Amino acid sequence: MELTIHQTSIPVDSLSQQESLREHITKRTASAGREDVEDPFYVVDLGRLIELYQDWVTAMPSVTPFYAVKCNEDPALLKTLAALGTGFDCASKHEMSVVLDLGVPPERVVYANPCKQTSHIQYAAQRGVKMMSFDNTAELHKTHKHFPTAELMLRIKADAPDCVGKPGFKFGCTTAEGKQLLDTAKALGLNVIGVSFHVGSRCQTPSAYEVALKVAAELFDYGAKIGYQFSLLDIGGGFPGQAGSRDMFHSVASAINQTLASLFSPEAHPGVRFIAEPGRYFACSTHTIVVNIISKRSCDIVEGGEGPKFMYYINGGIYGSFNCVLNDRAAPVPIPVKEVDAIVHQSRLWGVTCAGRDKICDALLPEFEVGDWLCFEDMGAYTISSATCFNGFPKAAPYYYVRENTIDQFKQVHEQ
Ligand SMILES: Cc1ncc(COP(=O)(O)O)c(C=O)c1O
Repeated sequence: MELTIHQTSIPVDSLSQQESLREHITKRTASAGREDVEDPFYVVDLGRLIELYQDWVTAMPSVTPFYAVKCNEDPALLKTLAALGTGFDCASKHEMSVVLDLGVPPERVVYANPCKQTSHIQYAAQRGVKMMSFDNTAELHKTHKHFPTAELMLRIKADAPDCVGKPGFKFGCTTAEGKQLLDTAKALGLNVIGVSFHVGSRCQTPSAYEVALKVAAELFDYGAKIGYQFSLLDIGGGFPGQAGSRDMFHSVASAINQTLASLFSPEAHPGVRFIAEPGRYFACSTHTIVVNIISKRSCDIVEGGEGPKFMYYINGGIYGSFNCVLNDRAAPVPIPVKEVDAIVHQSRLWGVTCAGRDKICDALLPEFEVGDWLCFEDMGAYTISSATCFNGFPKAAPYYYVRENTIDQFKQVHEQ
């Protein structure tokens, strides 16, 4: 099946309900026409994206998702989200241009990088991307000079205790600093329209959003005291994305709904719009990466008899999509594509580069041969977007599919 999306043709396979993804991958590994038949690739479920969007809208109807482009800027994923009507969280000139060039109006883009290069602020001004975050005085002075009509969001610190990367060490202000920054913005005549936060990626603590919303409410009140009437609350990202994380998402959504109802009721804060910046939520489970075993070593001769029995070398690695092992606390699980033996052995998977540290994981696996394929699910978030081509190995190419039960929705979404 081939669908036309915004005048661009994206080939999309359709999978019956009965066909397993492994069967589909097996067909694709055998399919002619690929330049190098051993190259790693992604299979990307665009129908799942629609289901995730619908689940979001049902779970948090008052919060509009602005997809965090940094998580994965796959063009078909962006086009599908754009057609569904999400907004976009961009961190740079490049990300803004990618999204705006798809025809997304600038009102649906938020430039959510608190520390911005001046030329990128000028680009936002030229393209009409007005909403942007700030968390320090230097940003206020830059904005005053280069984009005085920008619509600013004060970014507060809000790290969840369990999040990856602790963004609060780098970004966000405390409540006291926030009040001072609002005073400075007011004195400069800048248009602050609200508050934003990001609890950090992989948050598993629904109460982190409640804590942050309380601080946001206090700053809304302070803003009103000094003459602002805020109209935007941006609750950032951090929503879980793995296929098995639906319950956690619903717990987070329910905590947010309850806190918004109690602290940001329409009576207390009339006309306030709520947005969020989910990245992982949309990208993670849509992507399965498929890699080839390009070499193998039997380790019977390892001294002391400890360690893996087999070592496999696959054509992915920590400098490519598996950088998530280092950067994102990910623990990818290898799944054999072909039917396998029940007997398993302690095994080690090494990445494709010549770097000694390019190790992916240890796992109990059946014995494989060179040329066999492995796949890893939940590989769409912070994988290909932060992958390099170190040692000259190209990034895995995407192949798109939709399940039979989502084809009609997929067509409708893109034909609107
Ligand atoms: C400001 C901001 N918003 C949103 C996100 C997306 O986070 P996630 O992918 O966990 O939803 C990030 C990612 O780090 C971020 O820095």
